[in-house]
Amino acid sequence: NKRNILGISGSLRRDSFNRHVLAAATELAEADVALSTYDLAAVPLFNGDLEEGGDPASVAEFKRAILDSDGIFIVTPEYHHGMPGVLKNAIDWAGSDANHNVLKGMPTATIGASPTMFGTAFSQQQLKQSLVAAGASVMQQPSVFIAHANKKIAKNGAITDEDTKAMIASSLRAFSEWIDHKEK
Ligand code: FNR
Repeated sequence: NKRNILGISGSLRRDSFNRHVLAAATELAEADVALSTYDLAAVPLFNGDLEEGGDPASVAEFKRAILDSDGIFIVTPEYHHGMPGVLKNAIDWAGSDANHNVLKGMPTATIGASPTMFGTAFSQQQLKQSLVAAGASVMQQPSVFIAHANKKIAKNGAITDEDTKAMIASSLRAFSEWIDHKEK
């Protein structure tokens, strides 16, 4: 049975390293995994008033995409040692109890790329904390930090470092297997 995994990039930038990692994961996915992506650009800033009478259309669409998936594969940059506001904002919407917290019990995995030597370690730690707080089920291992991303990912998106390519593929594989394991 095929796993439907939803991929989310915490960076909206066109030539984002993290967008490129997500695209590479989509290409590297094995036959039993379908990785589709959801673009967070359309999600408005969280405002509890907007939840009255149901979620705004773009939020409802985002939450539907999560519900229709078997798990969420989140690729995050790091800004000021934390996750991007774009991503935190999306978690706040998805995990809000006002309408339906779609993160509750949802399998999630994090990965990320940055040009620095720590490769999103701080950002992913914070991201995992927020996912846990929203009730999501968070895969703890393997940790995948793509450090010095500028030397491993070309501007056109090609992953020029073979080890990085293998890490991306194996992290998606590990996530899919972890979801299977949870269901047994
Ligand atoms: C950064 N960057 C960064 N990198 C990092 O490893 N740790 C950090 O704390 C920060 N802080 C930070 C703050 C802000 C406001 C920006 C814009 C950038 C650098 C960041 O990793 C780099 O810009 C990446 O290219 C962003 O990811 P995408 O957009 O390429 O996916």
